[in-house]
Amino acid sequence: MFAISLGDDKAELRPLEVWQDEEFLAHMDRARELVDPWIPFASFATDRESARALLRRYAEKQAADTGRLYGIWLEGTLVGGVLFRIFDTASGNCEIGVWLEPAAQGRGLITRAAERLIDWAVYERGMHRVEWDASAANTRSIAVAKRLGMTSSTRAWSRHAESTHLTPRGRPTGDDGNGQTGPKARNPGFLPCPGRASDAS
Ligand SMILES: CC(C)(COP(=O)(O)OP(=O)(O)OC[C@H]1O[C@@H](n2cnc3c(N)ncnc32)[C@H](O)[C@@H]1OP(=O)(O)O)[C@@H](O)C(=O)NCCC(=O)NCCS
Repeated sequence: MFAISLGDDKAELRPLEVWQDEEFLAHMDRARELVDPWIPFASFATDRESARALLRRYAEKQAADTGRLYGIWLEGTLVGGVLFRIFDTASGNCEIGVWLEPAAQGRGLITRAAERLIDWAVYERGMHRVEWDASAANTRSIAVAKRLGMTSSTRAWSRHAESTHLTPRGRPTGDDGNGQTGPKARNPGFLPCPGRASDAS
């Protein structure tokens, strides 16, 4: 019902909700071969019940304003998604997770969708740090993070992991540098900052 166009290729970002469990499961079945080596996400949705439970978990996070989940449709087919695994308004930190099914790679879908999420988190919600946790071996994921303007710092506590973060340049949450603070303040630049280990659930 509600869709944000991601470009001229008929790609759309839409809410992904509990009632879409069957469509979500079919997509997870196409995606799990690509996703499983990197993040524990498709592994949480292995049948209708578990797919529904995963979607419900994110519906509950959204209701509590602690997370969100969106699907990416390409010419009417659900081919991937982006989520806020963590959305902590008290600290101003959030963490984005992303995935695609193999056939949807290489089109910039995730870069375009994640840009929308980051803009919303920073400009609408006043978040001051967006995290992207990727294995150091996950070159495609790291390429997206770099494309999004993120910078990284390897964390000794996280084996084989590289935590990549995005944060407005040296300002308190939502300060645009011109005295405007809070939601909708604009932030032109970003700096690295410390993060934490995580999974994608
Ligand atoms: C990580 C993952 C989402 C990256 O997928 P991706 O297709 O490389 O990322 P994007 O959708 O942003 O596409 C980028 C590619 O499209 C190209 N592209 C085309 N149009 C583009 C556009 N408008 N904007 C940006 N890139 C574009 C880029 O040049 C890049 O091409 P490349 O494949 O030659 O490098 C995917 O590999 C995946 O699902 N992996 C498994 C799950 C996972 O690892 N998740 C992340 C955990 S941290």
